[in-house]
Amino acid sequence: MTVKRALITGITGQDGYYLTRFLLEKGYQVEGLARRNARQSLGTLDYLSSEQRKKVAIHWGDITDSVFIAQLIRENSYDEVYHFAAQSFVPQSFTNPYFTYQVNIGGTLHLVNAIRDYSPKTRLYFAATSEMYGLAKQALQNEETPFHPRSPYGVSKLAAFWTVKNYRESYGLFFVNGILFNHESEMRGPEFVTQKIATGVAEVMAGKRAHISLGNLEAKRDWGYAPEYVEGAWRMLQQAAPDDFVLATGEQHSIREFVEVAFASVKMKIEWRGTGVEEEGVNTADGKVIVKIDSELYRPAEVPLLLGDATKAREVLGWAPVTAFSALVDKMVKYQCTRMGHE
Ligand code: NAP
Ligand code: GDD
Repeated sequence: MTVKRALITGITGQDGYYLTRFLLEKGYQVEGLARRNARQSLGTLDYLSSEQRKKVAIHWGDITDSVFIAQLIRENSYDEVYHFAAQSFVPQSFTNPYFTYQVNIGGTLHLVNAIRDYSPKTRLYFAATSEMYGLAKQALQNEETPFHPRSPYGVSKLAAFWTVKNYRESYGLFFVNGILFNHESEMRGPEFVTQKIATGVAEVMAGKRAHISLGNLEAKRDWGYAPEYVEGAWRMLQQAAPDDFVLATGEQHSIREFVEVAFASVKMKIEWRGTGVEEEGVNTADGKVIVKIDSELYRPAEVPLLLGDATKAREVLGWAPVTAFSALVDKMVKYQCTRMGHE
């Protein structure tokens, strides 16, 4: 049996970590694109076992470097490329929109051009996002729902989404868009709200901080568990023909609910007092303030509600989410508590 060869861009992020583990278990030869940093850190890959780590070849470079990307694709005939590399933090896209476009649109363009020109048999997965729905036109969003992005990040992903689709239609390439709703895990980056809350709860428990500062508590998200979503991405590339798919749980919860369930998982009950930016979350056991609102954390334009319909993925890919919301929150909080030596 021939060994399949895969390249993961953005291998040092959350999804890169889980996909690396998944593909190694499937017997793939896994290679990653990682950008150099002064500490030579490999991000989430530092959490692989040394045996797993030894099996992964790293190509040091940047997705915005078109010459490097062309050379990488020309010199290596990958069976599959998973394009995760992105400036993925929505607030940064408001402060650095041009940079976000360079990485998310420009980087994707370099990759699709290189595959078209040098390795047209390579199958490409692009990490599109529910952020493209933005001010969603339907209560339940699927592959047919119109888009209305609300941030430079959302706009950049939509431009890249259409680029991938257009190259598929124009040049007959096996390119797919995975429209993934929020997926979280122990490996989630620290700025994203779920990890910020999970870490904050563990720190409040350990007496390392008095409270967590948050922005809009009313936004609702459809949160799933990341390892299940990377398997969905892989399944998309194993089909007979390329197509686009939504991956989501079909369940929606607010940031406020996430906070409540996170504190409940360490047996703390939170009570809300006040309204708007004056609102506070208080520990019912001792009356101490454990959540505050910081108006700086509100976004210039918000995505108020996301709720995905993954019927197509279930029917065509045989994919379905497994981890329920409360189990996800519990996993993330317990992981941070254990990390801080606090069971
Ligand atoms: P993440 O943890 O933020 O990882 C992003 C990765 O991209 C990191 O490895 C980062 O490298 C790399 N990267 C950023 N700029 C780069 C550049 N110029 N050149 C090369 N690499 C670069 O994101 P994630 O949560 O794993 O998500 C993976 C992908 O799915 C992203 O494209 C994201 O936009 C998309 N997505 C995520 C979700 C979600 O809920 N997680 C949902 C839908 C779509 P460094 O480690 O050096 O920063
Ligand atoms: N980050 C953050 N920090 N968000 C906060 C905070 C806070 O202190 N307080 C409230 N929020 C709200 C945000 O306003 C937003 O409505 C929601 O929490 C989720 O924010 P993030 O966790 O930063 O994720 P996101 O939904 O904006 O984007 C993530 O999911 C997308 C898929 O829908 C990222 O992973 C994107 O890359 C991804 O495409």
